[in-house]
Amino acid sequence: MSRDVHNPLLFEIAWEVANKVGGIYTVIKSKAPVTVHEYGDSYTLIGPLNYKTAAAEMEPEPVSNWCMKEILDDMTSQGIKWMYGRWLIEGAPHVLLFDTNSIFERLDAWKADLWNVAGIPSPPNDQETNDAILFGYLVAWFLGDFVAKERSKAVIAHFHEWMSACAIPLMRKRRTDLTTIFTTHATLLGRYLCAGSIDFYNNISKFSVDEETGKRGIYHRYCIERAAAHCCDVFTTVSQITAYEAEHLLKRKPDGVLPNGLNVVKFSAMHEFQNLHARNKEKIHNFVRGHFYGHYDFDLDNTLYFFTAGRYEYRNKGVDMFIESMGRLNARLKACNSPMTVVAFIVMPAATQSYAVESLKGHAVTKQLQETVKEITDRIGQRIFEKAARYTGGDISQAVVEPNELLTNEEKVLLKRRVIALKRSTLPAIVTHNMCDDSADPILSQLRRLQLFNHPSDRVKVVFHPEFLSANNPLFGLDYEDFVRGCHLGVFPSYYEPWGYTPAECTVMGVPSITTNLSGFGCFVEEVVENSADYGIYIIDRRMKSVEESVQQLVDCMLQFCQKSRRQRINQRNRTERLSDLLDWKLMGMEYVRARKLALHRAYPDSFMGSDLGDFQQYKFKIPKPFSAPGSPRIKGSNPNGVDDLSEQMTALGFRIDDEDEYPFPTIL
Ligand code: UDP
Ligand code: G6P
Ligand code: GLC
Repeated sequence: MSRDVHNPLLFEIAWEVANKVGGIYTVIKSKAPVTVHEYGDSYTLIGPLNYKTAAAEMEPEPVSNWCMKEILDDMTSQGIKWMYGRWLIEGAPHVLLFDTNSIFERLDAWKADLWNVAGIPSPPNDQETNDAILFGYLVAWFLGDFVAKERSKAVIAHFHEWMSACAIPLMRKRRTDLTTIFTTHATLLGRYLCAGSIDFYNNISKFSVDEETGKRGIYHRYCIERAAAHCCDVFTTVSQITAYEAEHLLKRKPDGVLPNGLNVVKFSAMHEFQNLHARNKEKIHNFVRGHFYGHYDFDLDNTLYFFTAGRYEYRNKGVDMFIESMGRLNARLKACNSPMTVVAFIVMPAATQSYAVESLKGHAVTKQLQETVKEITDRIGQRIFEKAARYTGGDISQAVVEPNELLTNEEKVLLKRRVIALKRSTLPAIVTHNMCDDSADPILSQLRRLQLFNHPSDRVKVVFHPEFLSANNPLFGLDYEDFVRGCHLGVFPSYYEPWGYTPAECTVMGVPSITTNLSGFGCFVEEVVENSADYGIYIIDRRMKSVEESVQQLVDCMLQFCQKSRRQRINQRNRTERLSDLLDWKLMGMEYVRARKLALHRAYPDSFMGSDLGDFQQYKFKIPKPFSAPGSPRIKGSNPNGVDDLSEQMTALGFRIDDEDEYPFPTIL
């Protein structure tokens, strides 16, 4: 009996399912609502079981599918621990998490098998590879048994990144009756090569891959990645630039590109996201008052918050260029006597011992001051009221407190005591934590080399926060999303970035950002948006320019941003936010649909006789320059509100807005 290819079952397998590490978690989590919408209960995610986070990430539930239940019961009887339930995210997809440690005793046997069936070596003591092998064998076991029991429907298994993909060569060898897709979100070798100082893109076709991976001790991991790329039915990646890299380093040209989307939540009124910016900026102001206590001599109304964030990959994420350009921006702002101050945040997790006492102290003393001021003003209010309320006739001025009587002597002393606590002999710290490796840390070393020490004369102040943000954070009290909303500009001058969610997330939150033409996202935007800078996405050329020229371009760009008026910033944010539809999974997810269709065609060609396969469709439209650009009152004829109508432009370009009130999601006509 042939399998039903029109109502397939979908498994999506990744190491970051319910397990946050970086951007792959964002891919899977943000895509869940559209995939659940399409597949409903036929969709299950498979990932590793991390006991520390699983309780917060998922809600266990009984296994309702009888095939799965039988297999999982059998696996339990063989000592395997797993957890099944709903992932606690929008869409609430089914998740199955395997505890790789529970089957550790089979590692050696499976390693030997991997060598015998696929010629993939695996040295001892590489924890990541061990995990990848254990996970791969568990997934291949589960899926193999599953398709043996469930014989009526076609099954698609979609794997992300090498850590999850060891099952692909195994299932190919075992002729497991399903179809596989492998999406790589980078190449191992590419990431390693770029992290060193190598002219990667000009030499990409010349690297001896076996030798280079061998030199870096990642040959065995590379073997898993390459085997997955070659053994899957459909091979994809997240951007054109990584497709090019994969073709050279993994030696298979991807069948298509699956660009990353986001789950875009639109506000009913345009001004709401602007209000959120103002509210969250106020929280960042509070942080700044605390952190810069004793040196808080700049005007917060003329202060801009720039930031960079992500996993700590110093060169790949362009932190080297970020810091260098901050040094130069500081000099340029000083030279032109700018009234603006820039606070540049670096949010990148590194090994730390604790929060720095100075950081905590700053927040404590400013908080005390704030509380004292509130207490005193409450009392003053009470006194004014009492005096006025007691008026019984006669001289009315007797009923009104004189300004010089507003503060009692006791209150003056209390206030002075609080103010004295703000005195300090040190400059505001450049890092909020005690670092494990303070003297060798690359970020701190470069900040020190450029003498970015938060001196009062500095127009660029820096704050390195070596930990991801969360709402429980005692310094900011903000989670990452709210922090981004409160900032003015995200700066991500990446050298190696297959996609790069951070600037994309800025865009959907209406926050302008800087990216590069070496990031998948930057290339995507360059392709689909004309003059993207007018929409608040600046793209630095790191491909055709020297490092020096790129740094200069970055500094010019930031300086220009500093020269914008508040009105211009508000207009630009409006335009940025309007691009968010472009990044919505409702549009981006179409490429996933095509990839799955192609996978089914390849595995079961007979079931599709005569039907059209469609193609991986790249974006054939380009959003023109906004009507309002540059949204400046200096430009004649610009839209006075600075709010251009992207939907009109999209309609003119062949988009149809299905139901604007409900959801302005463009459909390609
Ligand atoms: N991120 C976060 N908290 C932070 C900083 C970053 O959760 O304090 C997230 C960010 O929202 C993004 C992910 O980390 O979704 C980074 O993904 P990206 O694709 O930019 O880079 P990757 O780490 O995958 O290379
Ligand atoms: C939002 C708020 C405005 C506020 C502005 C500040 O647009 O709705 O009330 O004035 O942000 O913008 P800025 O770029 O100076 O932070
Ligand atoms: C990888 C890449 C990043 C990308 C993410 C999601 O971790 O480093 O650029 O955004 O995967 O595809």
